[in-house]
Amino acid sequence: MADQDSRAGMRYGTPEIVAYLDALHAPHDEGLAAAFAAPGREGMPAIQVGISDGKLVEMLMRLAAVEKAVEVGTLAGYSAVRIARGLRPSGRLWTIEFDPRHADVARRAIASAGHAERVEVCVGAGLEVLPTLEAHGPFDAVFIDADKENYDAYGRWAAAHLRPGGMLLGDNAYLFGELLDDTRRGAAMRRFHEEACLHFDTVCIPTPDGLLLGIKR
Ligand code: SAH
Ligand code: DHB
Ligand code: MG
Repeated sequence: MADQDSRAGMRYGTPEIVAYLDALHAPHDEGLAAAFAAPGREGMPAIQVGISDGKLVEMLMRLAAVEKAVEVGTLAGYSAVRIARGLRPSGRLWTIEFDPRHADVARRAIASAGHAERVEVCVGAGLEVLPTLEAHGPFDAVFIDADKENYDAYGRWAAAHLRPGGMLLGDNAYLFGELLDDTRRGAAMRRFHEEACLHFDTVCIPTPDGLLLGIKR
């Protein structure tokens, strides 16, 4: 139940509650477990989305019957597997990763989860790769989860290349609690939010680090 504290941002979740609910509502099969474990196993930063965040992204893809999706920031492919599972049977995901080692690990994780044919891992910087995908558009969903300094530019690209009714998602929308800081990435993330409002119906879902959801007007 909402009360003044929880409306203002206080959480009642504890590590034990989160673990119980992740296991109950968002259980991992082998493919998801392997993709989730890959960053730790491969010496990459373990900065994949949370388990329930991943399930939320998957379910939003399903609810919106997404056919064509773009992700910026693949890491080891955990969120890509979640997105792929939420797509329509004929759906396709283009996911962009700057670090070729991450992209290699992700391709393997995505293939062992059974989604190699519907997911293309594109190696390069988001700002360079996105224009090369435009011929496949307009898109039904864009999930942004890469370098925070460029979220505003990624959001602008999404506004231009999502169909009306298409879905924008932005992870780390609280910027690790630094959204209101006077920093370059703070300013970029605030611009992402403020410009999203101009082109999308928006809400910031209060996941642990905030998930911006927009529906393109
Ligand atoms: N979405 C992933 C996590 C992504 S972590 C998941 O939930 O499983 C962020 C990733 O973005 C890292 O792998 C990092 O290498 C990549 N990245 C950083 N800057 C980038 C850029 N400019 N373009 C594309 N990817 C970038
Ligand atoms: C970092 C990046 C993310 O996308 C995330 O969800 C958590 C942490 C990071 O760069 O530290
Ligand atoms: Mg993230």
